[in-house]
Amino acid sequence: MPERRRILVTSALPYANGPLHLGHIIEQIQTDIWARFQRLRGHECLYVCASDAHGTPVMLRAAKEGLTPEELIASVQQGHRADSAGFLIDCANFHSTHSPENRYFAELIYTRLAAGGHIARRAIEQAYDPERGMFLPDRYIKGECPRCGAADQYGDSCEACGATYTPLELRNPVSALSGATPVRRESEHFFFRLGDFEAMLREWTSGERVQPEVANKLQEWFGEGLRDWDISRDAPYFGFEIPGEPGKYFYVWVDAPIGYMASFQDYCSREGLDFDRYWSPASDAELYHFIGKDIAYFHTLFWPAMLHGAGFRTPNGVFCHGFLTVDGQKMSKSRGTFILARTYLDHLDPEYFRYYIAAKLGAGLEDIDLNLEDFVQRVNADLVGKVVNIASRCAGFIDKRFGGLLAPGAAAAELRAECVAEGEAIAACYEAREYGKAMRRIMALADRANQYIDHEKPWALARDPAQAARVQAVCSAGIDLFRILATYLAPVLPALAARAAAFLRLPLDWASLPASLDGHAIATFTPLMNRIAPERIAAMIEASKGHTEGAATAAAAAPATTQPPIADTIAFEDFAKVDLRVARIVAAEPVAGADKLLALTLDLGGGLRRNVFAGIKSAYAAGDLVGRLTVMVANLAPRTMRFGVSEGMVLAAGPGGKDIFLLAPDSGAEPGMQVK
Ligand code: 2FM
Ligand code: ZN
Repeated sequence: MPERRRILVTSALPYANGPLHLGHIIEQIQTDIWARFQRLRGHECLYVCASDAHGTPVMLRAAKEGLTPEELIASVQQGHRADSAGFLIDCANFHSTHSPENRYFAELIYTRLAAGGHIARRAIEQAYDPERGMFLPDRYIKGECPRCGAADQYGDSCEACGATYTPLELRNPVSALSGATPVRRESEHFFFRLGDFEAMLREWTSGERVQPEVANKLQEWFGEGLRDWDISRDAPYFGFEIPGEPGKYFYVWVDAPIGYMASFQDYCSREGLDFDRYWSPASDAELYHFIGKDIAYFHTLFWPAMLHGAGFRTPNGVFCHGFLTVDGQKMSKSRGTFILARTYLDHLDPEYFRYYIAAKLGAGLEDIDLNLEDFVQRVNADLVGKVVNIASRCAGFIDKRFGGLLAPGAAAAELRAECVAEGEAIAACYEAREYGKAMRRIMALADRANQYIDHEKPWALARDPAQAARVQAVCSAGIDLFRILATYLAPVLPALAARAAAFLRLPLDWASLPASLDGHAIATFTPLMNRIAPERIAAMIEASKGHTEGAATAAAAAPATTQPPIADTIAFEDFAKVDLRVARIVAAEPVAGADKLLALTLDLGGGLRRNVFAGIKSAYAAGDLVGRLTVMVANLAPRTMRFGVSEGMVLAAGPGGKDIFLLAPDSGAEPGMQVK
């Protein structure tokens, strides 16, 4: 095992003007898997995050809701924390950029940069809303595109022709806040002289610190020349005032990355850690940022330059990922694929998503598609059908026949050794953020473990008392293989790993995998993971449509949310197997001890009779039913219920209670007729 590394990782700080959606969560999962992997390998790895609390959108959203910005960000931050925790994100600290620590570091960094001569000031002209009395960010101005004339375009770019421009170039501009025509107004701004750091940045970005795709992009940016960065905003603005400059505030993107330091400082104060050990230029700790590809410019140019200019260490790596798409398309509110973290958690186990995303993630910037059908299929096949299956196939024998004791001698020694040896390749994949490759390797081992059990057939051996030792040895090997796989999967599936550890009665520890479990006592097996029921996906999508804003709110008001979702479609061939017959109710009896059931005797014609329990007592007195026709599923396999065997099912419709309607066929129907 290499020397114990000291590592600090972050994921991008989500804006405090709204809740987390699955796009945020994939990044947190990517970061969390990496951090958990490092810890599992014996390293120290701390993951900190925070809410990005400042800026115009937060200020305006709070005003709209009649809250102070502080009230809004406190409640949003609480939601961020809860949602991250719901996805089992093990964050050492989830802080806020609106915090004393962040004010301290923002002021410190700015003051040092200013002292170094890296801050310029000059007056610029901007669009100003005379009614609201504030300068307007580009996104708050709308007008006609100066190039193609398209109406209703934002102040920075045209969605129709792709042109980019300044808001002052828009034709017939209006303020999106008040509808007033913006006026040009001059004010003094502060600029960070990024160009001062060109040599340092060229060097910093030339190593392995950024991905090749980002390095290429950086060459373009260097080629275009590094421009001064406008780091101030005029009041009214929700943020930190620039020291000594009343009415001037740090632009939100200045103190956002500084929030990484602030969150860590807050953690250090609480836990008694030495902040400087991680952030001084002489630090022996590693620092990595996980971010979306859209904010690479901030993290690979401004941020390292600010840190360097202010006398702090720079990051060892900035890892960008692609965007989340759902069924191949951008997340869409109207399609119900703009899925909030909370909505997902209301319907599905977080580990399903963690696994699926891990299986899709590589080290590159490609978008990550959540294909909902593939999601169900892959999670059910891999986790339930392969991994958990290994334990469930073996555990019963060990528990019932061998008092929970694993065999003293190892079977499948070769396979076991290969699984342990594969650990290094799997670790290399995790380290390189090639989680998809790691998952494929792990599933290939799971296939081999299942093949081993298929081949040995412990269930067949168990019929021969002379083979008892062999049954114990085979099942013990199966359980040990399961332990190895659960350990490899622990960074991705921490809750499953915890259940596996309880079942195995030992902690899952990568370094101890070579040690055998001879004679170890395990606990009774309880199911470790359930299959995804496709109707849960449908329910989640339906609930996500409920979040639609604006024109489509009708969907939210529709009673759909109170209805059970339509289940997955079935193939016509499956439907064709259902034999629907007209039946006459020849007897109906209440069932002792059952409030809702009636025991019906149904005549299917030709002397064929069936006894069926039907949950229709709330709508019909037994006596009223005799002689009526109904439709039944005649070929449903008999089911043993608490009160007896039910030999079919009566079809009825209605919301329940008094309104349950038997589907009596038109006159002329005869018992036994097939319903088409
Ligand atoms: O793009 C965003 O959502 C920003 N709130 C990310 C900030 S990351 C870091 F710089 F704080
Ligand atoms: Zn245009």
